[in-house]
Amino acid sequence: MTNQNAKLWDKGYGTDQEIERFTVGRDREMDMYLAEADVLGSLAHIRMLEEIGLLTAAELRTLTAELQNIHAQIRRGEFVIEEGIEDVHSQIELQLTRRLGDVGKKIHSGRSRNDQVLVDLKLFTRRQLKFVCEDVKALFEELQRQSENYRDVLMPGYTHLQVAMPSSFGLWFGAYAEALTDDLLLLQAAYKMCNRNPLGSAAGYGSSFPLHRQTTTQLLGFDSMDYNVVYAQMGRGKTERNVAFALAGVAGTLAKLAFDACLFNSQNFGFLRLPKECTTGSSIMPHKKNPDVFELIRARCNKLQALPTQITLIMNNLPSGYFRDLQIIKEVFLPAFEELRDCLRMTTYIVGRIEVNKKILDDERYDLMFSVEEVNRLAAEGMPFRDAYKKVGLDIEAGTFRPRKEVHHTHEGSIGNLCNKQIAALMDEVWGSFHFEQMETAEQNLLKPLSE
Ligand code: ARG
Repeated sequence: MTNQNAKLWDKGYGTDQEIERFTVGRDREMDMYLAEADVLGSLAHIRMLEEIGLLTAAELRTLTAELQNIHAQIRRGEFVIEEGIEDVHSQIELQLTRRLGDVGKKIHSGRSRNDQVLVDLKLFTRRQLKFVCEDVKALFEELQRQSENYRDVLMPGYTHLQVAMPSSFGLWFGAYAEALTDDLLLLQAAYKMCNRNPLGSAAGYGSSFPLHRQTTTQLLGFDSMDYNVVYAQMGRGKTERNVAFALAGVAGTLAKLAFDACLFNSQNFGFLRLPKECTTGSSIMPHKKNPDVFELIRARCNKLQALPTQITLIMNNLPSGYFRDLQIIKEVFLPAFEELRDCLRMTTYIVGRIEVNKKILDDERYDLMFSVEEVNRLAAEGMPFRDAYKKVGLDIEAGTFRPRKEVHHTHEGSIGNLCNKQIAALMDEVWGSFHFEQMETAEQNLLKPLSE
């Protein structure tokens, strides 16, 4: 059986239905993520086509208005990629030709679906990265707030999961806030890579039309273009992988926090508690209040950390030039943003509700974490450090060590001097060098009616 449906590349013979099913795969679902971006790319492309004389001013106006209608249709959730239509690029071109006739067929001059999907991915991803960054910032602020709330509540610090030295909830919450400042830096690098324009690379080797690539670069609010057309095409997969590394960085931070929280919530630690309405029960054990939230954050974020490897393996050893392999990356990449954002929002929600145990140190099993405090006190009084170390060690062995439970840590980043303000300044510095407004303004302008 062959299928004679509307295809951009129809040449008068059908395609075997099984081949069609297999090659289209999940594209009709995946391309829905890219629909708005596809319209924006086309709006910029046709402005450029008019500039180089491939469209008349009247054609540009008609096409622009109709593309803007389609954009609004997508925003309203009413856009569908119809049965039998391959992808979002075909669907949009089909709607244009249905409404406008032959002029709809003109928009594809000087481009290929290969550079369309490239530009769509860049536009979609930079927008999603902005959302992720906003969620990261919200979590950062919550962690800093909790760090300040509990700045004086001491807890044991561990090495090898053995009681080690005094730590505090101020340090614990604050550490994860600072981790996010580095994660944001990687997100920024990813954003910058997405902010270069591949449009004009066509199938990967440019076009004999005198395209004004600088025009589309500016119209879409990109920082610059991917200049070399072969490199522009090579960016497919590479961009996604680099972005995935940045997402995995955040996911790694969340997974670690989640594991700490599960551990500290266990009765054997009892350092923190979740309000009971934020826990889940057991079908058999009536006493259970389980921290499933953190377990699911941990698992979902661990899964997200596999993303760079998944993408790497899909594109492993592909030579330069386009390959259909790249289509499969969309299936793992496009849904990852919402997956991470859901975890980020849930972490923010639950971190704000954590209740901490203010009396952890009353339990004498933690007494030995003050051993270094005692050594340092003796050393400060003049005893050589090694002798003080030995004396305290012998006292511990003899069972005569009695801890003094007050701590005096004053250097930067320690219990008594959290430097939360300096950490907030680090965050502000990264945040301040994003310039999302360039993207916002460009996209808004493309959606305004064309002036006469
Ligand atoms: N669905 C394709 C993808 O995601 C779009 C590009 C199709 N190009 C082609 N040469 N077959 O890669």
